[in-house]
Amino acid sequence: MKRPVWRPGAAPPAGRPRQARGIRRSRRLFASFLVEQTDPQRFYGDLATDSLATLAEWVDVRDRLVLDVGAGPAQFADAFRGAGARYVPLDHDRSVPSVAGGGVVGSALALPIASGSVDIVFCSNLLEHVPDLEAVADELVRVLRPGGVLYLSYTNWLSPWGGHEASPWHWVSGGYAVRRYRRRHGRPPKNRLGETIFRTSIAQGLRWARSHPDVEALAARPRYLPDRARVLLAVPGLREVLTWNLLLLVRRRDPASTRVGPPGPGR
Ligand SMILES: C[S@@+](CC[C@H](N)C(=O)[O-])C[C@H]1O[C@@H](n2cnc3c(N)ncnc32)[C@H](O)[C@@H]1O
Repeated sequence: MKRPVWRPGAAPPAGRPRQARGIRRSRRLFASFLVEQTDPQRFYGDLATDSLATLAEWVDVRDRLVLDVGAGPAQFADAFRGAGARYVPLDHDRSVPSVAGGGVVGSALALPIASGSVDIVFCSNLLEHVPDLEAVADELVRVLRPGGVLYLSYTNWLSPWGGHEASPWHWVSGGYAVRRYRRRHGRPPKNRLGETIFRTSIAQGLRWARSHPDVEALAARPRYLPDRARVLLAVPGLREVLTWNLLLLVRRRDPASTRVGPPGPGR
């Protein structure tokens, strides 16, 4: 029997600001991507502003404890703190700007953070750099308090940007992409398959969000594309090439709020 297409269907709460996610926004984002190397301030600044606008549809970050896992540059810190969040960056590389000035140095595979202690977990473009996507995604949910929200996004391997700076030659093979990059630049790329970048798929992320017992999926869509493009996620094969980057927004289930029946004594 054919399995029905999975579509997370929650609507953002009424009264929250709405983000316009049409062609114009995508054009703006892709224009920023073109200057990643030459103007990282603009690139990361635009990405951070856009991510925060997406998140703001679901939650008010003001006064909330936000853990940014794989935080990297400082622009996300500026955006979250500017919006009033209690923002904590975490990265395994102590030299990245976000944690160099104070933050948590640790691995996403075993977060040095207490279970159920964080209001919002933000994890952007980290999962393609870890060998076990599901283990890290589980870890992100573990630290989230019941009712807390996780913003999770990553670039899958078959995306046009799957090989990162060696793209699109990763479509030929991971090894060829590295050799070609080395020939042209005289040094190996930062992202090498099986070492610093791993073969993630869109199917994998969707499967994780659909099947994790503690999460309710709020939204799944191509992060940078117009909202209408989310139909792509229903098409195996094609979604791996065209989605570009998958965004999952999930909420950790709150057993207290889903309990059925009248409140018991003391509740
Ligand atoms: C591509 S950058 C993403 C930075 C930022 N979040 C963004 O969206 O632009 C990936 C970051 O994850 C960090 N990272 C990679 N593997 C990690 C791990 N296992 N644990 C914690 N951080 C990790 C890297 O040091 C890097 O700063």
